[in-house]
Amino acid sequence: MSLSTQLVKYQAQVKIALEHWLPSADIEPTHLHEAMRYAVLGEGKRIRPVLVYACGEAFGVEHNALDACASAVEMIHAYSLVHDDLPAMDDDDLRRGRPTLHKQFDEATAILAGDALQALAFHVLANDPAIVVDAGQRIQMIDTLALASGSVGMAGGQAIDLASVGKSLNLAELENMHMHKTGALIRASVELGALCLQDVDQQRFAKVSKYANCIGLAFQVQDDILDIESDTETLGKPQGSDIARNKPTYPNLLGLDGARETARKLHAEAIDCLQEFDEKADTLRMITDYIVQRNK
Ligand code: IPE
Ligand code: IPE
Ligand code: MG
Ligand code: MG
Ligand code: MG
Repeated sequence: MSLSTQLVKYQAQVKIALEHWLPSADIEPTHLHEAMRYAVLGEGKRIRPVLVYACGEAFGVEHNALDACASAVEMIHAYSLVHDDLPAMDDDDLRRGRPTLHKQFDEATAILAGDALQALAFHVLANDPAIVVDAGQRIQMIDTLALASGSVGMAGGQAIDLASVGKSLNLAELENMHMHKTGALIRASVELGALCLQDVDQQRFAKVSKYANCIGLAFQVQDDILDIESDTETLGKPQGSDIARNKPTYPNLLGLDGARETARKLHAEAIDCLQEFDEKADTLRMITDYIVQRNK
């Protein structure tokens, strides 16, 4: 199956799961529920849920057992985007091709929608009956997502990002920032896919975890490149936002060619981590290509 066929299939599958878990906009507080749905159900690429499904596929997990993890990582991601766009952070007006949540609604609603989505993600992991692993492993899954989202993961990375505005970071510092703000949740997405299997083989788990570190960093390097190379219509978010905000990025430090070379090396390293996996890991391999070749 081609990657685009797989992407469409998994994007459709997670949409059904998200629709299931998101409170209806008819339920009180309707304004907040409408905002949560607006944040999540826009035209995102759904790369994190797709990674959950693709990694689950590599480990032979049933697709239905992966829906909760796929939904939970997308809820955390959507919340992180809502807060990332706020005036106190990147102050952007466009996201997924339409007004950012605080523009469409208001800032307080954007903060609350983010808070509520974060809580809902953990509710989903704690409650989904289709998760087949035992309670101990379910707690490990909840903890994986908690650590990836918090101060030693995404939120911590966002703090470093904000503290770095106007500063010039060295390569190690820049890598550290990207590994936290973007890499942590991408790694959790891959790990959760594997953790949906009871008694997962530790050696194979370590391999996909390393794979995830490579693609997580590559994903943000490509995001930095696209901020320069792409256009607002294609991206669905403002092109040039990093330059306007004076953000340290890979192209800023290494030049566009240097950033592309970094992405190329990370791609090769990621593919190498999958060596011991059979053709069930082919979707993961195709996603690796997509991450560094995408134009949005
Ligand atoms: C954007 O993420 C923010 C980053 C972490 C780079 P995506 O590029 O996955 O955004 P959507 O979900 O497709 O909108
Ligand atoms: C965002 O990084 C990472 C998050 C945790 C949301 P960016 O600020 O580069 O993401 P975009 O470019 O606004 O999507
Ligand atoms: Mg940001
Ligand atoms: Mg931003
Ligand atoms: Mg960006």
